[in-house]
Amino acid sequence: MTKALIRLNEKIPCLEGKAIKTSQTKLESYLDYYQENNQNFDLSKVIYEVEYHDNGLQEGQKGGLFLGISHLMPGTVGEEFYMTKGHLHHKKDTGEYYWGLKGCGLLLLVYEDGTYELEKVSTGSIHYIPGRTSHRLINIGTEKLSVGACWSTESGHDYVNCHFPVRVFKKGEGKFEVIHCTT
Ligand SMILES: [Fe+2]
Repeated sequence: MTKALIRLNEKIPCLEGKAIKTSQTKLESYLDYYQENNQNFDLSKVIYEVEYHDNGLQEGQKGGLFLGISHLMPGTVGEEFYMTKGHLHHKKDTGEYYWGLKGCGLLLLVYEDGTYELEKVSTGSIHYIPGRTSHRLINIGTEKLSVGACWSTESGHDYVNCHFPVRVFKKGEGKFEVIHCTT
């Protein structure tokens, strides 16, 4: 019997084991995604981090799966809650699972016809993201939002053709407001 290559540490939560890769996204790389992007924010701040295990597979390879956890910090740019860049999949029909591990957030799903849904993400919530659906996480809580993900090795990330018609702003303590936008 062989030991599993990786395991989930549910307390932190994080992945443990060998060959876990990480990527960080700083505010400077996507400040223009936010409505108030002309002020003096700390551009070097890491807004979210993804740790993942690729099982030695390459992106674009057929039939495999990747597993990861996204960690999205709490906070706002102006009054707009921190969010991930959001994306579509290059391989358009591939779906993905997300599941809440810790924290409190929203999953914005935007379908091909332009309609959208906001699903509440919390510990234990499970979210299926169909193919051809733009998806983005938003942290509306006061602690780090950690979300598990499993996606196809064929998916890829398309940050150009995705579309997000709403923004989520802080509206007093513990409340949020969804505002429609064109950019
Ligand atoms: Fe995805």
